[in-house]
Amino acid sequence: MAENKRKTYYITTPIYYPSDKLHIGHAYTTVAADSMARYKRMRGYDVWFLTGADEHGQKIERKAKSVGKTPKEYVDEIVAGFIHLWDKLQISNDDFIRTTEERHQRVVQNIFQKLYDNGDIYKSEYEGWYCTPCETFWTEKQLVDKCCPDCGRGVELLKEESYFFRMSKYQDRLLEHIKNNPDFIQPTSRMNEMISFIERGLEDLCVSRTTFKWGIPVPFDEKHVIYVWIDALTNYISALGYGSGDEKYEKYWPADLHLVGKDIMRFHTIIWPAILMAAGLELPKKVFGHGWLMLAEGKMSKSKGNVVDPLELIDKYGVDAIRYYLVREIPTGADGHYSEEALVERINTDLANDFGNLLSRTTAMINKFNGGLVPIPSEEEAIDSELREFARETVNNVENLMEDFELSNAVGEIWKLVNRTNKYIEETAPWTLARDPEKKSRLETVLYYMAEALRICTVMCTPFMPGLPPKVWKQLGIENNAEVHTWDSLQKWGALPSGARINRGEPLFPRIDLKKIDQQQDKRASKVEKDQKVQRAAHDNVLNLEEEITIEEFSKVDLRVAEVIKAEKVKNADKLLKLEVDLGAEKRTVVAGIAEYYKPEEMVGKKIVLVANLKPAKIRGITSQGMILAASKGDKLGVITLERDIPAGARVK
Ligand code: MSP
Repeated sequence: MAENKRKTYYITTPIYYPSDKLHIGHAYTTVAADSMARYKRMRGYDVWFLTGADEHGQKIERKAKSVGKTPKEYVDEIVAGFIHLWDKLQISNDDFIRTTEERHQRVVQNIFQKLYDNGDIYKSEYEGWYCTPCETFWTEKQLVDKCCPDCGRGVELLKEESYFFRMSKYQDRLLEHIKNNPDFIQPTSRMNEMISFIERGLEDLCVSRTTFKWGIPVPFDEKHVIYVWIDALTNYISALGYGSGDEKYEKYWPADLHLVGKDIMRFHTIIWPAILMAAGLELPKKVFGHGWLMLAEGKMSKSKGNVVDPLELIDKYGVDAIRYYLVREIPTGADGHYSEEALVERINTDLANDFGNLLSRTTAMINKFNGGLVPIPSEEEAIDSELREFARETVNNVENLMEDFELSNAVGEIWKLVNRTNKYIEETAPWTLARDPEKKSRLETVLYYMAEALRICTVMCTPFMPGLPPKVWKQLGIENNAEVHTWDSLQKWGALPSGARINRGEPLFPRIDLKKIDQQQDKRASKVEKDQKVQRAAHDNVLNLEEEITIEEFSKVDLRVAEVIKAEKVKNADKLLKLEVDLGAEKRTVVAGIAEYYKPEEMVGKKIVLVANLKPAKIRGITSQGMILAASKGDKLGVITLERDIPAGARVK
């Protein structure tokens, strides 16, 4: 019964596009939301924490095609990677919604129908700049030199039949709602941006497309698929089972917090509320737009080849350190800057030095000066009450900052207490007290206060670094005292049980050698630079040629005509085909990385060009006796074939 009375807290992350693997910027959003979800659970809320994947759309349809997969096969693989990453980052989500799930599609169609039935969706024509080879509409603003921003070719002004959502109708209601609920859009700077955007006038929104298929069909017009935002945004209620009688919807909607990046604020604070108003549903209580994690050279992006893989960092530095760094590095409302040096610096300073030293000094001194038992404190002196008071204020400040989603500052407050406690140790100098038997009870009080302040810091770290507290509890000998690990236990100074037996352990965060990291970084930077040079060259239409060679050097490469007589896929290797080729005088086996572009049966009978004197190499257990020639650019690849029928074995020069 008590369960039902608990206050609920529903928090969401954006649902990520499975067009590629996620990078450290995406990890930030989810870690931040997870920290909040864990915090609210500690505060006694009945929390529902949702994340997921936004799987439809033309980009994904194309990406899948380019690698020879169906869109579903493609997203299944990438989404499995999302789930693995969240697992490694210890994300405590209660559900994971995929827009390809039936439970989601049903709700999207239901909302679309509802809006159509009440006249908020109508059929009209969408006019835009169309790139025929890319089958994509662009707005005037998106064009680059009046050409397609993707392929650079010419575009034409075309009209397409589309459904539109009457967003303009909700403009005034929306403005009123935002102004009457100053908490709705946070931080305030983003609220002001949104207000001026709405005041410039809202246009109706194109919500269906006929130019691609990978989406949810419009329920009453199967020629159309529902375009992006009605599909994506509806996840927040479809995951709660809206319309299916699921009690989760009644219990958790409206959401307490949609956490999103600043780039998708407009969708969440304008389009989504307008859809909800049109459907007669309540609006979320708060949308918080966080800043971005930037690199020195700007945005992280796959095409620039500079994305930072969170899995690599977790393996290298541990999950708690990465979570700490992410939450600490992005200040509320502003962007943060990522560099591996800054990450290592944080680990060495905040975690190894400040926190690590507090733990190791506390446990070492209790061991040495009090036989390994947490002492009983006696009378308090001014310096002790000052520490106790500082701890009380810190808890208060952290609670207030968490309410405002000021995660970075909340962690900063905890570290003020860590450092205040380290200072307390310097000021009280327990090693001096230990030399004087008359100061025994004073020493006991000081040791107790150190340990209690450490306990308080650790409890407050729990939402941000869930792996940390159990290790500290073990060292303080209180792993079985769950009642002193809770947020409630922070209300009263002195919850740490005297008599607990210390178990000194390894340092929690060993220091990292920055020099080693620099060397690795240099290697990586030169690779990125080389990749960027090649990409720039491709973009600027210059041929970034290899160094010059002589005709003698070229003639060392023995190229021969070869006929493919057999082709099959290599087991457990998506990219490889095993070919059997005829060179006239002999037959050979060759492994080629072309399986994403050619089906085995397409290759049989082709006359291709083989580098016949290449040193054999073992690939997936198969000895490959040569290499076939192919040309590739971007996501296209073509094998070199002969224009006339020349016998197998003939030399190519
Ligand atoms: N699918 C949409 C969201 C639909 S929600 C109904 C989408 N997906 S996304 O994968 O492109 O981005 C998801 C989130 O990651 C966004 O909130 C975006 O701001 C965030 N980030 C992407 N790169 C980021 C950084 N470099 N730093 C911080 N967050 C970043 O948009």
